[in-house]
Amino acid sequence: RRLAILISGRGSNMAALVEASSAVDCPYEVVLVASDKPAAAGLAWAADHGIATFAQSPKGLPKAEYEAAINAALREAGAEAIALAGYMRLLSDGFVARWRGRIVNIHPSLLPKYKGLDTHARALAAGDAVAGCSVHLVTEELDAGELLGQAEVPVLPDDTADTLSARVLEQEHRLYPETVARWLRGWSDGIPFS
Ligand code: GRF
Repeated sequence: RRLAILISGRGSNMAALVEASSAVDCPYEVVLVASDKPAAAGLAWAADHGIATFAQSPKGLPKAEYEAAINAALREAGAEAIALAGYMRLLSDGFVARWRGRIVNIHPSLLPKYKGLDTHARALAAGDAVAGCSVHLVTEELDAGELLGQAEVPVLPDDTADTLSARVLEQEHRLYPETVARWLRGWSDGIPFS
C-alpha cells in the first residue's frame, strides 16, 4: 500500500514508520512526507532518506485552497492511505470525507482520555498511574475515531511532562508502525474511494 505521512515538526513517528517499511513483510511503502511547516525537521530527514516531500504553508490561504494543494500532492504521489504524525492542524470535514477510512493518527494519551493538547501534563495533574498512546482512525471529531491500537506505560513518582512524554514516545515508535501495518494488511479486499 502507498502511504503518505503528514507532519508539522520533529517527525520521529514518521521516521519510525519509514524505518519499519524496509522490513520484507511490511505492507506499505512511504510515498510522500508532507508538512504545513516548510522548516519542519522531519522534512529534511525524509528528503535525506530519498522520500518525496511536499511543503505547503497554510498562511494567507483559504483552508480549502491549502487542503486542495495537499490533496493534489497526495494524488500525484498515488497515496492510498494517510498517517498523521505530529500534524498539528485540524483537517476539514471535506478532506476527512474524501479520505474516509483511510486516515490514521497517533495521539499521546490513552484515548478517550485527554483528547487535544498537553496530554502528559493533564495525566500527571490527574494523578494517573498509567499513561500511554493510541492509534485511531481520523473522523471529523478531534481524536475520536475508532481505536486501532494502544500501548501503556507506568507513570513514575518523579515524572515531569517531559520524562513521561519520552517514555510514551518510545512506545509510539513501536505502536505506530505495528498498528499501521496491521491496519493496511486488513485492506486486502480494498476499500473504495468515496
Ligand atoms: C507525538 O507525541 C504524537 O503522538 C503527537 O505529536 C508528537 C509528534 O512527535 N501527535 P514527532 O513529530 O512524531 O516526533
